[in-house]
Amino acid sequence: PAPGWSIAADVVVVGSGVAGLTAALRCQAAGLKTVVVTKARLDDGSTRWAQGGIAAALGEGDTPEQHLDDTLVAGAGLCDEEAVRILVTEGPDAVRRLIETGARFDESAEGALELTREGGHHRRRIAHAGGDATGAEISRALVDAVRARGVRTVENALVLDLLTDAEGHTAGVTLHVMGEGQHDGVGAVHAPAVVLATGGMGQVFSATTNPSVSTGDGVALALRAGAEVSDLEFVQFHPTVLFLGADAEGQQPLVSEAVRGEGAHLVDADGVRFMLGRHELAELAPRDIVAKGIMRRMQEQDADHMFLDGRHFGAEMWEHRFPTILAACRAHGIDPVTEPIPVAPAAHYASGGVRTDSQGRTTVPGLYACGEVACTGVHGANRLASNSLLEGLVYAERIAADITASHAENGLLTRVPRPLPYPETPEHPLLTAEARFTIQRIMTDGAGVLRSAGSLAKAADRLQQLHTDARDALTENGKTAEPGVDTWEATNLLCVARVLVAAARLREETRGCHWREDRPERDDTAWRRHIVVRLNPDRS
Ligand code: SIN
Repeated sequence: PAPGWSIAADVVVVGSGVAGLTAALRCQAAGLKTVVVTKARLDDGSTRWAQGGIAAALGEGDTPEQHLDDTLVAGAGLCDEEAVRILVTEGPDAVRRLIETGARFDESAEGALELTREGGHHRRRIAHAGGDATGAEISRALVDAVRARGVRTVENALVLDLLTDAEGHTAGVTLHVMGEGQHDGVGAVHAPAVVLATGGMGQVFSATTNPSVSTGDGVALALRAGAEVSDLEFVQFHPTVLFLGADAEGQQPLVSEAVRGEGAHLVDADGVRFMLGRHELAELAPRDIVAKGIMRRMQEQDADHMFLDGRHFGAEMWEHRFPTILAACRAHGIDPVTEPIPVAPAAHYASGGVRTDSQGRTTVPGLYACGEVACTGVHGANRLASNSLLEGLVYAERIAADITASHAENGLLTRVPRPLPYPETPEHPLLTAEARFTIQRIMTDGAGVLRSAGSLAKAADRLQQLHTDARDALTENGKTAEPGVDTWEATNLLCVARVLVAAARLREETRGCHWREDRPERDDTAWRRHIVVRLNPDRS
């Protein structure tokens, strides 16, 4: 349908995690008319669930150079070194500015930041808040600041598509809003600058640490708009997610890397520490290596989970340092003070996303991306733990600076949007809400932690069939499903799943978090390069 209402702004930020709210606060502070739109409430989304913390060279003896080295090693040869250098050098000050904005991090009795370790870090450099509730505190501080500074927000607003003008420049976004009074139904925010900060796509798999809103909306929008998307095959599986049964679906409780950082051990059912001897850092090896170690041991023992043993912490440390994890475990009948925690890997983070330069600019003029939705080049084939909140902060500030500079130079020109064919075209038919679960099962079976040419081919065929069925239904009936959040989310999930599987099939090697059973070696001759995808923006 044509938009029934519209708002005009200088910049519209889509998403309200650390990246989106930081960009919005900086744009507003620079005098730009800023609107934040978010699919659910301001504090929904992945930031709130982040536990371990935010990595930056803030500790004595630590340097950005050491942080750079650890990030490059984790990224398995595919990081953009310049993007990482920006992250690690601008990171410490960005964290200090976050503290000035109101975030309260845990401190020692002397008032120094408490820093912990996580996988792949050779130093203690992870700042945390509320013990293991870092994301919740960052989200609280940023939401408070957005409200205090009067940034205009529209909640319950699902972004549908990018609007562009006759020259292909960004002109705003279309949105479907539910329950916002004057802004209900399909509408538009007209703005010459759009910042995508919509987060990840963990919901493409059955079991994930991501909340239910993480459905790849930003990547799907960017693909439909003809922007370049890169590295989608690199989905990170967090090694230690509370195991709630082989059939558990949806968001699963995370057991932070920081638990291992403070000395908990991974053990099998016999109590044997199987990561010893697999890597010099044992349980604190980069995340892909730990996830693979767990999967291997599970295969060897025909088990569906392993255990994380932190009994030696004692009750006081569990209560003080990991209150969120303690409560989540106890809610599921497990007491980490007296028993090892059952854990297994689950989908956690999209290292790839909408391709950007060092200012967060995508390949569509006026369209920016930051946070998990973006592929800045910082993560390569495997993100280093706790670099994601930092990336959201640093690159959001760069984006705000870039938009502000172009405003100062030219004024932000009003752009007249071309009409859009959305919601349904034969290439992008609307799926039923139930299709979400079918997609999740297909992806978990065929494109999960362990992949092969055969499993990926099967996944591709099944996804293609879903698409064909929806397209045929559209042709026959003129309609496939009622437009709504559930159906648009399912449609977006299928869009990103198809590209992810296509990239994973193409990459015939094992690298970082992309693990091909049939191609177990890393192939630097053929594959030290990125898979970049761009769809035809006219949707034909
Ligand atoms: C964790 O706390 O283990 C998550 C950290 C991250 O994903 O960066």
